[in-house]
Amino acid sequence: MIPLIGLKGKGEHYSLFSVNSKKEQENTVLQQQIDLTAHLSAMHVVTGASEGIGRAYAFALAERGMNIVIMSRTKERLDTVAKEIGDSTGRTVKVITTDFLKENVFSKIEDQLKDMNIGVLVNNVGMLPDVIPCKYLDSKELDKTVTEVINCNVKTMAKMCRLVLPGMEKRGKGLIVNISSGIASIPFPMYSLYAASKVFVERLSQGLQSEYKEKGIIIQAVAPFGVSTRMAAYQETNMVTLSPQDFVESSLHYVRAGDKTYGSVCHSILGWILLCIPLHLLHAEFLQRSLQSYVKSKIYRQEKRSNAIYKNKSWRV
Ligand SMILES: NC(=O)c1ccc[n+]([C@@H]2O[C@H](COP(=O)([O-])OP(=O)(O)OC[C@H]3O[C@@H](n4cnc5c(N)ncnc54)[C@H](OP(=O)(O)O)[C@@H]3O)[C@@H](O)[C@H]2O)c1
Repeated sequence: MIPLIGLKGKGEHYSLFSVNSKKEQENTVLQQQIDLTAHLSAMHVVTGASEGIGRAYAFALAERGMNIVIMSRTKERLDTVAKEIGDSTGRTVKVITTDFLKENVFSKIEDQLKDMNIGVLVNNVGMLPDVIPCKYLDSKELDKTVTEVINCNVKTMAKMCRLVLPGMEKRGKGLIVNISSGIASIPFPMYSLYAASKVFVERLSQGLQSEYKEKGIIIQAVAPFGVSTRMAAYQETNMVTLSPQDFVESSLHYVRAGDKTYGSVCHSILGWILLCIPLHLLHAEFLQRSLQSYVKSKIYRQEKRSNAIYKNKSWRV
């Protein structure tokens, strides 16, 4: 198999490196986690798993022999995903219904996870404050939005790491995948709050990886660009907009690729291009307005085509 070439992030510096074949990868990191399933209590957690990228991670891990805990707000959707995974892989799937926007949800989650050996945690849940990108003060209900984005994108990731790391440290193994975003690579106007929340995800992942790598734990930020999900208005897939399944299968090849990865070759190239464009060009007022018009027209066309339901302001991801 041809080795994949990716971009490895180390602070602001990026270098080319080669990634082992899929088979080798699975025989290393993921295989170590599969070994955990020898214990009846071994489970692997994916947040925001009722659809999109989280659902694809839950499927991918179960297909590799792991029992899964899936979390989101909507019990019916989680139950459907649990049944689909159980039927197609034969693995055990436990459902935890929770709303990460709410305060004080983590002690309840801790209780529900307490007797399990968590081998893999995918911190996937995230929300985009506005469907149409806009300037900070133009965001509707800004005060509420700020709290929600911090609770969902920032606090949840930090708290979930806090819940699973002690067990991983004790067992001397574990994998934590924290989903960031490609746009966190630069200061990204019109998505400022969202991009800043994902910078937190990356910096905490990178700091924790340094602190816990000696303990045998892998902690990695995965930063996709376009993936066709509700958050991305179900854009048609193409060379740069991947299906959740394709993105996740690709990103799992990179688990040993350092503390940050774009998770696929095409998104690595996009990240590299983004970093090459001078910021004063990217930040030009006319480009910000063009980005807004572009997304608006794209969503309008998509709505017309698929009659999807993301017109609503409270559209979450
Ligand atoms: N799609 C992209 O192009 C893209 C690009 C870069 C980064 N990302 C990141 O990838 C991650 C997954 O995004 P996605 O595109 O897969 O989104 P998605 O398809 O909209 O799925 C979001 C998932 O999170 C759950 N969720 C949302 N808010 C929640 C809350 N407050 N509490 C509990 N669960 C909640 C949703 O279920 P319920 O609604 O039932 O709760 C759903 O299962 C996010 O962190 C996102 O920022 C996505």
